Amino acid sequence: MKGLILSGGTGSRLRPLTYSNAKQLIPVANKPILVRVIETIRDAGITDIGIVVGSTAKQIKDVVGTGSRWGVKVTYIEQDAPLGLAHAVKISQDFLGDDRFVMFLGDNVIEGGISPLIAQFANSKWNSQIVLTRIPDPRQYGVAELGDNGRIINLVEKPQNPPSDLALVGIYMFDANVFKAVNAIKPSWRGELEITDALKWLVQNNYDVHPYIHEGWWIDTGKREDMLEANDLVLEEIDYEIAGYIDRESQVGRRVTIERGAEIINSVVRGPSIIGENARIVNSYIGPYTSIAKDVIVENSEIEHSMVLENSKIIDIGTRIQDSLIGSHVEISRSPIKPKALKLSLADYSQVGIL
Ligand code: DAU
Repeated sequence: MKGLILSGGTGSRLRPLTYSNAKQLIPVANKPILVRVIETIRDAGITDIGIVVGSTAKQIKDVVGTGSRWGVKVTYIEQDAPLGLAHAVKISQDFLGDDRFVMFLGDNVIEGGISPLIAQFANSKWNSQIVLTRIPDPRQYGVAELGDNGRIINLVEKPQNPPSDLALVGIYMFDANVFKAVNAIKPSWRGELEITDALKWLVQNNYDVHPYIHEGWWIDTGKREDMLEANDLVLEEIDYEIAGYIDRESQVGRRVTIERGAEIINSVVRGPSIIGENARIVNSYIGPYTSIAKDVIVENSEIEHSMVLENSKIIDIGTRIQDSLIGSHVEISRSPIKPKALKLSLADYSQVGIL
């Protein structure tokens, strides 16, 4: 069995973070979402993985490389434009050949424990398996309708009037019959070749598409407000480890990871939280549900329930920073220069809440 990860697309809904980076590379609990997806596929015993890339190909290749760091072999498949998930499957046919495969969207975060389900498909007779989850208002997703016998009777992409509350999670398993489907369907109203339409084609042509209903959490991080929630959930799930330095004046609570080279000096860190490699926390408070990425400096400041990406500096901030998503190479500091005023240098689409 092979793996296929979709990492094309533009990520416009996550701006400004995605001006300089691919959305699939935004870290959740200090690990890029894409790397979490690679690890899930690898844990299902799959080591041959194709990654579909678009305009952010270079950044993705810089981070993932050959995949050897995670014990997998990565083949990159270039998509000229984001013409749809089924289009991504179509252009991956040479890589996939006749193998059964699992396809993951590179920007979804799902509760652990899905790997055995994928491994199980390898030995099944089903032509496809899809992962569904119940969502009160699934209008922005693909939606499946099941009959009384639990079989799929209909599928529809982003319906105005959803036929059920069962949304398609971005995990799909197929055999080679999917190529018949992606070649038969036409672009949708949004101009994309929809994987949901390809699945519908398989169902209508009597191929066996098996639904699996996922009961745990799942977050489509396409939206900015979902990033913090994904961070909260993953921080609840990871194993904790203290590999950095904590001085005697500091208090570090339970469920805290301090990565290699990080230093906690005269500070309080409450879990669940993670402090990245070579970060320095000095005279500060880091509250629960906070991810501080590598090489970040926090001095004389308080921060809680937030994400700070790499190489940023937060220095001498008297007010507690909370519920915030701070990109990489950002500097927040108190300026001694008069007149006393806020001096901001913010990227397009930034959001700042001032007391
Ligand atoms: O998140 C689950 C939903 O994902 C499903 O419920 C929908 O049925 C499915 O169509 C998809 O909907 P989105 O509109 O949210 O997909 P999005 O455009 O955000 O793309 C998902 C991922 O696939 C993202 O990592 C970018 C990548 N992608 C997308 C397109 C359109 C590609 O690599 N190539 C593409 O052509």
